[in-house]
Amino acid sequence: MVKPAILGGTPVADLSYMKSRRILENPDKEKEYLLKVFDTGIWNHWNNNGNLAGEFEALWAEYNTSKYCSLVTNGTHALQLALEALDIGYGDEVIVPGITWQATAGAVCDVNAVPILTDINKDTFCIDANMVEKAITSKTRAIICVHLYNRLSDLDSLLKIAERHGLWLIEDCSHCHGSKFKGKGAGSLGTFGTYSFQSSKLMQCAEGGAVLTQDRELYGRIMSLRNCGRDFDNIKIHSGNYRITGFQAAVLIAQLEVLKSKAAYIDKMGHVLDDTLDSLPGVRPLSRNSGTTCQTGYGYAFSYSPENFDGLPAGIFRSALSAELGLEFTSTYTPLNMSEVYYPHLKRRHHLGRNYLESINPANYKLPSALDIWLNRAVVTRWYIFNSSVKEASYLSDAISKIYEHRKDLIKRGI
Ligand SMILES: Cc1ncc(COP(=O)(O)O)c(C=O)c1O
Repeated sequence: MVKPAILGGTPVADLSYMKSRRILENPDKEKEYLLKVFDTGIWNHWNNNGNLAGEFEALWAEYNTSKYCSLVTNGTHALQLALEALDIGYGDEVIVPGITWQATAGAVCDVNAVPILTDINKDTFCIDANMVEKAITSKTRAIICVHLYNRLSDLDSLLKIAERHGLWLIEDCSHCHGSKFKGKGAGSLGTFGTYSFQSSKLMQCAEGGAVLTQDRELYGRIMSLRNCGRDFDNIKIHSGNYRITGFQAAVLIAQLEVLKSKAAYIDKMGHVLDDTLDSLPGVRPLSRNSGTTCQTGYGYAFSYSPENFDGLPAGIFRSALSAELGLEFTSTYTPLNMSEVYYPHLKRRHHLGRNYLESINPANYKLPSALDIWLNRAVVTRWYIFNSSVKEASYLSDAISKIYEHRKDLIKRGI
């Protein structure tokens, strides 16, 4: 077999062209709807003012089997407003996964509550329901689960835990536009479902977010909160400006048209990639919760075992795989207790007393599974891999087999 690409050999394939293809691209419609907003002159999204954002809210709610959808500035604010709508604040704790983008925990600090960093399930890379149960105290008010990369969280267990302990469940769906659980849209099962449409996401409009709920009162609260605390159906909560524009919604409407048909393809390619890994030594697909009826993803993640590669470190495995396919394979987000972008205790606004500072200091949390996943196990690439054909997906297995064959060489060279 030829040498690994990282040692100067010929790569298995060059799939780098996939990175330039937006998976939900629909440029003609995106332009058409953008012009529509421009021509109407109704650029801002004011409740029921005929702006296209209202149309997208109705479409997104319906697609995700939710009664209500409110578009907001971004996914971080979607989480923050969901917490504010539940009146979560100082003295409260919210359980969050130890591996996620920093916003999931950051939003909790921004409402002066304490994010309790909780360990991760090694089979799904999502929050571990057993650890959630252990993290509950008399101060716990809510759980935020993140449907991370290409897996839905263990919703059956989390919903039961939330009900048993009288807690709210917020689903952070920033990674799973189009996923379904038992036929229901991601974000429609918890008290709130929040979305990000930031530019790196599967579905994106540069910056944007959404909050889904089934509850009329909670919807009213979000509507007041996003609009500077103005009255919405006799509901008023002091707030700031978290409104989106019609231009972002125009792009989202065009992409939703594609997502409606493409979600099934993404789901199918996820299965194909999983099957590809199944027969190989030392790698395995993540577990899919049995209720998952459609799985999309911000990324494609799988688990690696250095033990089966004679100790080849995960970092070398990821670099070697990237070189074989021309796509970046990385690890997960850095666990939040070591993250370079999560340090809320250093912000003066969060200096609410010594106990509070201690409780939000990420270094005070131990996340052994998250650490092991991040250092040794996780292999993650972005959604562009779902652009693959079945043939192209087989290159993943060719590349892994090639690395396996040459594992001793790679260890020796220590790249
Ligand atoms: C899991 C998760 N939650 C929340 C966010 C925050 O979204 P935004 O960047 O739109 O504020 C992101 C986006 O990066 C994310 O990946």
